[in-house]
Amino acid sequence: MIVYFSGTGNSRWCADLLANRLQDEVLDSFGYIQNGIAADLISGKPWVFVCPTYAWKIPHIFEQFIRSGSFMGEQEAYFVLTCGSDVGGAGAFLDELCKSVGLRYMGILEVVLPENYVAMFPIPNEKKSARMFEKARPILEEAAAHIEARRPLPGKAPTSFDRLKSNAVNKVFYKHFITAKPFTVSNKCIGCGKCAKECVLNNVTMQNGKPVWGANCTHCMACICGCPTEAIEYGLMSRGKRRYQAPRYK
Ligand SMILES: Cc1cc2nc3c(=O)[nH]c(=O)nc-3n(C[C@H](O)[C@H](O)[C@H](O)COP(=O)(O)O)c2cc1C
Ligand code: SF4
Ligand code: SF4
Repeated sequence: MIVYFSGTGNSRWCADLLANRLQDEVLDSFGYIQNGIAADLISGKPWVFVCPTYAWKIPHIFEQFIRSGSFMGEQEAYFVLTCGSDVGGAGAFLDELCKSVGLRYMGILEVVLPENYVAMFPIPNEKKSARMFEKARPILEEAAAHIEARRPLPGKAPTSFDRLKSNAVNKVFYKHFITAKPFTVSNKCIGCGKCAKECVLNNVTMQNGKPVWGANCTHCMACICGCPTEAIEYGLMSRGKRRYQAPRYK
């Protein structure tokens, strides 16, 4: 079973490609996380967990989803991490994570796709983004062949700098950089409520027809990138930047 989390669609695109290639089921963890439901799942094929990279690790909310869940049937677990540049030493933590839920770690695949972090970095234009998806296809196809044959994924060993990024820097990043405080909404807002509905942590509520952000944010970028009128800004950091949404897999 392919189980994914995705803020702006890159990881969903990979999950759908793998499901198609492996003729396997695909499951979105969104509803489980948003409603605080522990996963209780069974699969007759290897588990494939697909998600974005947040500060050189899997997102804490997806890690928590896996830790609190029950994944029965097959034990092999593969990880596919989409990223804007690199996953650092993310793989080093996944072995322990697998053991804690009774799975067998089979490796990690790094898939470079368009950066979605509009609150922090530049977003590639549409042409460059399209090229990145084309480049990702054969990488995912090759990984699918390994998964089908139940072979470990041939990943590269993390350097000590990679480990530093995924460990100490990840902690600092979550503590000091992940905050919803800079989110603002302009008068372009039409009060549609999409941002509230699409927040995996229910951190956006509609008050007097406008969104208000709470303190429980994971910086998935779904609210700011999904707004149909581009009414949401993240302080000055998002000004003038393209809002990112991945295409649907075809
Ligand atoms: C909070 C946050 C942290 C990120 N950290 C990293 C990172 O450490 N390394 C990296 O290469 N990309 C990083 N990115 C970029 C995303 O991992 C990348 O764009 C991903 O494909 C988005 O996936 P999604 O569309 O499925 O949400 C980060 C993005 C966000 C929003
Ligand atoms: S998605 Fe955009 S337009 Fe809709 S309520 Fe949120 S901010 Fe307003
Ligand atoms: S408030 Fe926005 S960025 Fe934060 S978790 Fe919710 S949807 Fe994601």
